[in-house]
Amino acid sequence: MNAAAEIGVIGGSGLYALLEDAEEFEVSTPYGPPSDPITVAQVGDRRVAFLPRHGRDHRFPPHKIPYRANLWALRALGVRQIVAPCAVGGLRPELGPGTFVVPDQLIDRTSGRVQTFYDEGAVHVSFADPYCPAGRAVLLAAAREVEPVDGGAMVVVEGPRFSTRAESRWFTAIGGAVVNMTGHPEAVLARELALCYTTIALVTDLDAGVEGDHGVTQEEVFSVFAENTERLRGVLLEAVTKLPAARECPCGSALDGIKLPFALP
Ligand code: ADE
Repeated sequence: MNAAAEIGVIGGSGLYALLEDAEEFEVSTPYGPPSDPITVAQVGDRRVAFLPRHGRDHRFPPHKIPYRANLWALRALGVRQIVAPCAVGGLRPELGPGTFVVPDQLIDRTSGRVQTFYDEGAVHVSFADPYCPAGRAVLLAAAREVEPVDGGAMVVVEGPRFSTRAESRWFTAIGGAVVNMTGHPEAVLARELALCYTTIALVTDLDAGVEGDHGVTQEEVFSVFAENTERLRGVLLEAVTKLPAARECPCGSALDGIKLPFALP
């Protein structure tokens, strides 16, 4: 049994398993258990951990996901680089279902979610660029066959409902490219643990303000995701083998010079 891993993949809606010949580990954290046991396997010459964000039976809706436990558990296994696929709605007509986007920005429209590990002390991480630049470059290259869109802001809404047409039009007006329900606080919690974190978004629908007819349905989101799962799996399995073994991005030094109120795992 070897639970050690360097790279973590946090699977989104419709991606509940990734690795072959994996061992499964129950990890406990100060924040309770993660969404599911974590599976770990060798992919090429890297050790990879996989965690389905919603649980393998999708029991956690976006606002109930144990985000802190998930990030802490991955770090406790040794993970320092995270790739986080997710389903999103497109906020522009050209970002239709089946499009892959590697966002470079995030706009938080959630409310009431715990979004920090640091409830005491002065710990203020930089978050101007929420995603790892090295991870983004690797994902863009790994996804080349699906012609990914490079950049764009992901608006993260509280959910679990989809947005009204007015909200959706407003998200487009303020610069959003895609919208989802799980990108925050996952990204900032990763930064607070000095982890590299990169997301790859699969557009499953055009959001309500773009399409102008029926609005978004859950059925549409899940079926488009299912149609694209194999393409996504291929991109992820290539990406994890190409992430740089030595981190030269700023993510690993996010906490340098900051006095932490407790030791990280
Ligand atoms: N996830 C997938 N599509 C979405 C949408 N339109 N809004 C919010 N989250 C989503």
